[in-house]
Amino acid sequence: MCGIVGYVGAKDCSEVLVSALRKLEYRGYDSAGIAVFENDKIRIAKEKGRLDDLQKRMDAEGVPCGHIGVGHTRWATHGVPSAVNSHPHRGGKNVTLVHNGIIENYKELKETLKDLGRTFVSETDTEVVAQLMDFNYMGDPVQAIARTLSVVEGSFALGILFADRPGELYAVRRESPLIVGVAEGESFIASDVPAIIKYTTQYYLLEHDEIAKLTFDGVSFCDLEGNSIEKELKVADWDQEAAEKGGYEHYMLKEIHEQPTAVKTTITPRISDGVPNLEECSITPERLSDINQIYIVACGTAMHAGMIGKYVIEKLCKVPVIVDIASEFRYRDPLIKEGDLVVIISQSGETADSLAAMRLAKKMGAQTLAIVNAKGSSIAREADMLIYTHAGPEIAVASTKAYMVQISVMYLLAFEMAYSKGLISEEECRRLTSELVGTSDKIEMTIGLVEPACKVFAQELTEAENLLYIGRGLDYALSMEGSLKLKEISYIHSEAYAAGELKHGTISLITEGMPVIAVATQNSLLDKTISNIKEVKARGAKVLIVCDDEAQISDDVADAVIRVPKIEECLMPMLAAVPLQLLAYYASVLRGNDVDKPRNLAKSVTVE
Ligand code: AGP
Repeated sequence: MCGIVGYVGAKDCSEVLVSALRKLEYRGYDSAGIAVFENDKIRIAKEKGRLDDLQKRMDAEGVPCGHIGVGHTRWATHGVPSAVNSHPHRGGKNVTLVHNGIIENYKELKETLKDLGRTFVSETDTEVVAQLMDFNYMGDPVQAIARTLSVVEGSFALGILFADRPGELYAVRRESPLIVGVAEGESFIASDVPAIIKYTTQYYLLEHDEIAKLTFDGVSFCDLEGNSIEKELKVADWDQEAAEKGGYEHYMLKEIHEQPTAVKTTITPRISDGVPNLEECSITPERLSDINQIYIVACGTAMHAGMIGKYVIEKLCKVPVIVDIASEFRYRDPLIKEGDLVVIISQSGETADSLAAMRLAKKMGAQTLAIVNAKGSSIAREADMLIYTHAGPEIAVASTKAYMVQISVMYLLAFEMAYSKGLISEEECRRLTSELVGTSDKIEMTIGLVEPACKVFAQELTEAENLLYIGRGLDYALSMEGSLKLKEISYIHSEAYAAGELKHGTISLITEGMPVIAVATQNSLLDKTISNIKEVKARGAKVLIVCDDEAQISDDVADAVIRVPKIEECLMPMLAAVPLQLLAYYASVLRGNDVDKPRNLAKSVTVE
């Protein structure tokens, strides 16, 4: 996620902007920049790398000196991390702006602007908005903003300077959050409260399509028609650390709630004209259609995302997929053949076992594809092909939003490969892709629906010593992730088990009152899963079923049922993962554990 800040007031603007951006570093970024009115002219300073690199450049070239400006930390989505692609971006003679979000129709807009004679220096969607804003600017900032927003599609928050208005700073948002902070004689814009909490705790929440105007006399708000809007002043009662958690008690809970945005930010730039397009990741349909064997190699949660990928890719693409734990793959002399595809999934991109596995695969002649969240990490740099996930930094040791975006990329890959192999029609590919796009809102809905029930049922788990997670097919793959989540943060032992395999031994573990969490979202397997549930219930288990909101399950089958919205069956793990994450979270909280930093664990295991 990018970070936006802005300042109007008597202080040294550059100093305030950089200081505020430092408080947004937790969001992750790969470049940074500021634009400041200096002697009534907009001066830009921007640099690839960290804020220290930007400061060094400014110290060398002279720090922009003024009292009104905007700043930005960029988490690259369109265009590589570079000074040219970093923000702020200029549009023509009049507009300089910073942006957080994704402009979904930027390619079409860019072509239109080129036809109108506009030229571009960067690969970003942001520069397109700046040029469009400039094209629409006839001297009235609100009118220019309104005209621009009438054609732009996507999610965005913008901080805007107009060259002929040196005493004014404008801000507008649609989806991406933006706040307007106020203090005595000064005002701010920011993507998040932590950026400004050092200067003020008073702020306004900008709503969709609302425009804020900040001047040395104060702030005002209006709608796209220019009608003024009265807004409620809010007060942040957080300390700095709480602010970085966005008001949530733990990073893990914040990151669970960030999943809808993370999915949208990850998949939207990889969909063109309604179907997946991974060409920016150097993955062409031709390259995909030639693949006859896939290995997915990862650790922990990332490996569980690979398990989801296995079921979906084999079902849709008819290509055999072997999922390997990286530390096993490395030492079992894998039968890699020339041309096999080895997919390495890693949030950190630095996991030693996964990195070593990728190097081994390359040495054996495989094509390697990395699915990585951390920009510029070792695995990302060394892979032949690369798909970045855009979950933003994941602070909690227990992975949630990274898992969600990893599986969303598994689906993109499966849909594109099946389509390029001619195994699904264009219409089916569009339908599946549309359903995938829709999961972002459905995850949001699911969180709201299931969180209360998860809080309650977690109480049933906190005294347990042993748990089973059971499921069939994709539900079994998802159970693995549910089990790991619970183990790693609540320290309760659990095991994911194929529901159909219980009767071959493990059912002997069932004791009176032992919790069993049954994942039953695959309707084609529901009856069989229910019969397995009855087997454990008959032996005293306390059963919680996670299923969709249309599943026919009689009341006597389970002790509790948590229902998630019904969507395309193969996509159900994206919704059913949410209650499993929340159950683990609340069980850990109830046991008084350090949820974000569980004992014995590190966020990235960079040693063998
Ligand atoms: C997940 O909750 C754990 N923190 C852990 O299993 C993690 O998924 C694993 O260490 C792999 O890390 P990576 O994705 O950064 O490679």
